[in-house]
This record gives sequence, C-alpha cells and structure tokens, in this order.
Amino acid sequence: MPSTRVVIDLDLPGATISRHVYGHFAEHLGRCIYGGFFVGEDSDIPNEGGIRLDVVEALRELNIPNLRWPGGCFADDYHWRDGIGPRDERPRMVNSHWGDVVEDNSFGTHEFMQLCEMLGADAYVNGNVGSGTVREMSEWIEYLTRADDSPMASLRRENGRDEPWKVPFFGIGNEAWGCGGNMRAEAYADLARQYATYVRNHGDNTVYRIAAGANSDDYAWTDELMKALGCLGCDGQGSSPYQALSLHYYTMSGSWEAKGSATEFDEDEWYLTLSRAYRIEELLTRHSTVMDRHDPRRRVGLVLDEWGTWWDVEPGTNPGFLYQQNTLRDALVASVHFDAFHRHADRLVMANIAQTVNVLQAMLLTDPETGALVKTPTFHVFAMNTPHHDAQALAAHVVDGETRTEDGRELPLLSASASTKDGAALVSLSNLDAGQARTVVLDLRGAEIAGFSAQVLTAASTADHNTPENPDAVAPASHDGIRRHERGLEVDLPAHSYVTVTLELA
Ligand code: AHR
Repeated sequence: MPSTRVVIDLDLPGATISRHVYGHFAEHLGRCIYGGFFVGEDSDIPNEGGIRLDVVEALRELNIPNLRWPGGCFADDYHWRDGIGPRDERPRMVNSHWGDVVEDNSFGTHEFMQLCEMLGADAYVNGNVGSGTVREMSEWIEYLTRADDSPMASLRRENGRDEPWKVPFFGIGNEAWGCGGNMRAEAYADLARQYATYVRNHGDNTVYRIAAGANSDDYAWTDELMKALGCLGCDGQGSSPYQALSLHYYTMSGSWEAKGSATEFDEDEWYLTLSRAYRIEELLTRHSTVMDRHDPRRRVGLVLDEWGTWWDVEPGTNPGFLYQQNTLRDALVASVHFDAFHRHADRLVMANIAQTVNVLQAMLLTDPETGALVKTPTFHVFAMNTPHHDAQALAAHVVDGETRTEDGRELPLLSASASTKDGAALVSLSNLDAGQARTVVLDLRGAEIAGFSAQVLTAASTADHNTPENPDAVAPASHDGIRRHERGLEVDLPAHSYVTVTLELA
C-alpha cells in the first residue's frame, strides 16, 4: 500500500473556525458546580468568592471562549430568582434530574458571572422554557445586562453588582423534545419564537439567541425550527426571533441502557466508539443541508451545545452524578470531533463539550476526599488545539488512507484537519489504529515551510488515564518523529495517538 498522504493547500484558507467551537458546559449536576467549580468561601481549598482557584488556573490554559450554564435538563427546572441575594436566605429546591439531591442555590447568577470573568469566558446562559414563564426569562436578561435604574437593574445593584454584565449567548430552553417539556417540534417552535422575543437587547448588549435543537439525527426537528423562522432572505437575521439552533450528540460504545465502561474496553469497543464519534461528520453535514434549504446564505448558526462521551458511571459513585474516568480513547473522540468542526466552520458557530469538571467527558476531575485536581487526556487535546481558535480552516485531504468498516460505516483510521493564522499553520493528525503505528507524508503546497515542530499525545495502552497518584500518565510531549520530505514533511504517528504539527510559514 502506498504511504498515506495528507494534502494541504496552505495558500487557500477557508472559513474561520470560531473559537466558540471550543466552548464548555457546566450544569448543576453531580460534582460539576458543587465541589468542581464551587466549594464555598469557607472551604480549605483556595478560592475566590467560593470559586476554586486551581480549577480556574487550569482552565485558563485552554482559553475557554464561552461557558454554558445552568443546564442541560436542570435549566428547565431553574428559577433564577432563587439564586440571587444573601446565600443563606436563598430558597432550596430538588434537583430531580440529577440524583434527586437538594440544591441550595448557593451558586447562582452572580457566582456564574464571576466565574466567567475569572475564566475570561463569554457567558452562555440557558433559560427555562419547560417550567418557567416568559416574564421570568425577560427579567433575567434585564437583570443581567441593563445599565439604568430599571426594576431588574436596581435589584442587581441591591445584590452588590452595579455594572451590567455582557451576556452574548442565551439558550431558549433545552432538549424541549425531552427533559425540557416533552414537546412536539411544532409546539416548541412557536414557544421558541415567543420566548426569544422577550430576550431583549439592553443597551449595547446584543444577544445571540439559541433555540433548543435536535437530538442526534432528528432532522425533522431542525426542519421545523427552520421553517418557523420564515423568510430569512427577506429581512435577515436581525429580525429573526432566534439566531441559531442547537444539536446534541453523545458518543458511547453501548446503548443508553448500558453505555459501556470508561476504562475497561476491548479493541472492538475502541473502534466502535471512534466510529460513533466520527458520525458527527454525517450529523453536521445533514443538519446543515436541512438548514441550507431554508437559509442558503447561512445566516442561522448551528450550535452543538452538548457533545462528548457518555459512559457508565465509575463504580461506587452516585448513578445520577454522571462521574466517569477519561482515557486516551476519550482524547481521540475529542480530536475526531474537532476535525469535523473545522470542516464545518461555515455553519457550526459554537460547540460545548459536556461537561467541564467531574461530569461526563470532563477536562478536570477533582477528588471528593482530598480535593486533588487531575487534568484528563481530553484536557490535553483542547490545549494542543488552541492555535485553531479563530484560525482559517485549510482543507486537509487524506490520500491512500486506510479505513475499516464499523457499525455499517466506513471509519478512516487517520483523521486530519488544519488551519492557518498569523503566518503559521497547525495540522491535527489522529491515528485511530489501536495497534499499528503509521508514517504519513504532509504534502504541503502553496507556501514554504520556514520551521516546524510537533507534539504527541499517546500512552502505552488505549485505556490509560490520569489519577491523583499518576496525574501525567497521559500527557503531551514534544515529538521528534518528524522530518523534511520532498513533498513537505514526513511524520511518524504512534499507534493510538494524537499529533499536532506547527508550521512556520515563510
Ligand atoms: O449533559 C447531561 C444531560 O444530557 C443534559 O442535562 C441534557 O441536556 C442531556 O440529556
């Protein structure tokens, strides 16, 4: 078999990869907010206003562009007024979706906005359509973003915050087809129009309103929400009630009933998982195609605001807390998603991994006993990919690449993408082969390469992961398996590895 080539035209940049596709998601679920982000001001763990400083410091390495909160399913149970004012006077509620635990509302609007400020991230606030009122949603955005002495701006001031915040992103409910109200698409589309109308722009805060979109391959849901926007070519997105639709897609090797273990899997499950991750390519293509029918000028954005792996919870942990370990397999699930995101940069405006700390495919895991913090393999893929933020996508054509058939679909064993920014380019290469190393030629056209370097993320076993005892079992390292080649560069990819190549363009 001829050696695999990746052909990249460095002088033909495409759409800008929004940094927001590297977005995050923090729900009131298990130990994501409580114990993960927020420990309270009296904790021994160093904190500012109750927010863990070690978590913030680690996440700042990722340049988190935005953070979605408070859910997820929790969003449609959440009444924001319960989460403002003195903490010891805040009403309590039952978090019925996640462990049936009592929520004391000690982390609310002010704490979330402080967290965003500390992270340097834009706020993506998800409103309540399922059990909330239009008035409640309307007053929340007024409370958050209005400067004058309006009733809600005054209330915010009474609670200690004078200046309005910026809230660029607002979700109109969540999973309205399921936990957000079990609605039919037609019914929700009307509610989305109605609720979004009252999420007003106050002062110079312009809100990008995101309607609760489809589950996985429910193209009919996308079609209905697009239909409800009417004639986009007539008046443009300025007067659309919502500017984007979301999409949720989770990766697992099993079924919703038995999702599979995060750390104990065989080679078949490895390939099945990666093939299901790779399915995101088909989902983005087909949802975009449905959207194109209504909106050929691509004014309406697609927002994948929940994605990632969903495994059986770690043995001995609360099944409602969705706490799972994170291996090299999760890292490659992430890199395959990012390659697809880069290819769909012209329609995909945002994506949010579920979820940032201690829940599902997390960046960080904290020990409930000692508080120790661990960076996961997925964290490292996010870190290695920061140069893709706001860079221009470059097509990366894999020629003579091997594939295998999984789940009735073709899975390429090499996944690749590339982008360029500021006189440099970044090439991402995922070798999905569980046991076989491979060498690929980067066939680089349209620019001279003044310098290059590479990083590799791999481990002895596909199931290797990081723990407080061994926090760097899976960590990136400088990669010297790269050299000049007559067509550009030649790169060695270890079995089950993720490699990024930085090119300095002459
Ligand atoms: O991320 C966990 C849950 O998955 C979210 O709350 C919900 O929106 C989805 O079903």
